[in-house]
Amino acid sequence: MLQIKNLNVKVDKKDILVKINFNFEKGKVYAIMGPNGSGKSSLAYAIAGHPGYKLEVESLKFEGNDISDLSPEKRAKLGIFLSFQSPLSLSGVNVFQLLRIALDKKIDPLTLKKKIETTAKKLGIKKELIERSLNEGASGGEKKKLEMLQASILDPKLLIFDEIDTGVDIDALRKIANFMNDNKDGKTYILITHYNRILHYIRPDKVLILMDGKLVKVGNSKLAEKIEKNGYERIVNS
Ligand SMILES: Nc1ncnc2c1ncn2[C@@H]1O[C@H](COP(=O)(O)OP(=O)(O)OP(=O)(O)O)[C@@H](O)[C@H]1O
Ligand SMILES: [Mg+2]
Repeated sequence: MLQIKNLNVKVDKKDILVKINFNFEKGKVYAIMGPNGSGKSSLAYAIAGHPGYKLEVESLKFEGNDISDLSPEKRAKLGIFLSFQSPLSLSGVNVFQLLRIALDKKIDPLTLKKKIETTAKKLGIKKELIERSLNEGASGGEKKKLEMLQASILDPKLLIFDEIDTGVDIDALRKIANFMNDNKDGKTYILITHYNRILHYIRPDKVLILMDGKLVKVGNSKLAEKIEKNGYERIVNS
């Protein structure tokens, strides 16, 4: 569903991603792991169309359509959702208002409001938090839960979560992962993570290892366990 052929990303002449080739298949769960600064977030940005990342790519196809020149908004409309590693705050816009715009008024306001409230309840998000400007004054874990809420209501086809598991408590993580498992049918998940914790709840079909901007290894969920035990250097060099 997402085909990446020869993707290179440079920032100020520095290679951030080098010759990335991978086909993400529909309905599968992928984990992307790798040391700090290896290019994981940059890959997520490149897929979502962040304007700060200039791509050189042979082809970048989403469900058969070339998306390499599309704006982030157009990519989102096609069904690509990126949850940021550090979710931004939006002053003066609450989650309801944001989703209303993002959904192009496809859901009537009352239904949307109800959907937000039910989902927030399931995720353990306080009512007061959804009425506030998005992420303003929210704790790290609360922001991650709000990301999950948006993903669930936007109902995208490809969901990229950049460290959704960082900074969330064990109960919140279970709720987030349960949510993913309950909404897996026909969807593709890319989970960028440093930890196995989330992968115990939502099992990845494949684990990809990025190092120094290169895709150096692809394996199954056992690879993530080996990494946790032995670290990246030993696994990649073995
Ligand atoms: N806009 C930018 N300007 C300059 N350097 C950048 C930019 N974006 C990314 N980089 C550099 O590219 C490399 C990859 O960064 P990236 O954020 O993708 O790493 P990461 O694998 O997500 O790391 P972490 O695990 O710490 O989140 C880093 O060395 C980073 O400093
Ligand atoms: Mg990152």
